[in-house]
Amino acid sequence: MKKIEHIGIAVRDLQKAEKIFSTIFGKNAYKTEEVISESVKTTFFKVGESKIELVAATNTQSPIAKYLDKNREGMHHIAFAVDDIEKEMTRLKKEGIRLLNETPKTGADNQLICFLHPKDTSGVLIELCQGKA
Ligand code: CO
Repeated sequence: MKKIEHIGIAVRDLQKAEKIFSTIFGKNAYKTEEVISESVKTTFFKVGESKIELVAATNTQSPIAKYLDKNREGMHHIAFAVDDIEKEMTRLKKEGIRLLNETPKTGADNQLICFLHPKDTSGVLIELCQGKA
């Protein structure tokens, strides 16, 4: 893995959270994007070399809606950039780490993504990201 690609924050109200984080960072978001396959809407900020993703549910079946039924708003996942997502998925599977999706999915901000099972990662939801060429 190369570096932290972004940190994901689960929010209930995307517009409200966008305002709060615009104030905190002193700049506007660079992108808002709906990921229909995941039933989420995301807003991205760049802070120096780091990216922060705000992620909100678009319906009650969304993984984020289910997460917020049980948890507070806040830190949700850490995404790591990888060169070859399929290779990393194969390697981690061999190490006994379960994947939440068996083939890479298209995520927000031009990334192929895969989530690792938090039960196998000390409770941290980890997302692998490979930038699409
Ligand atoms: Co993410």
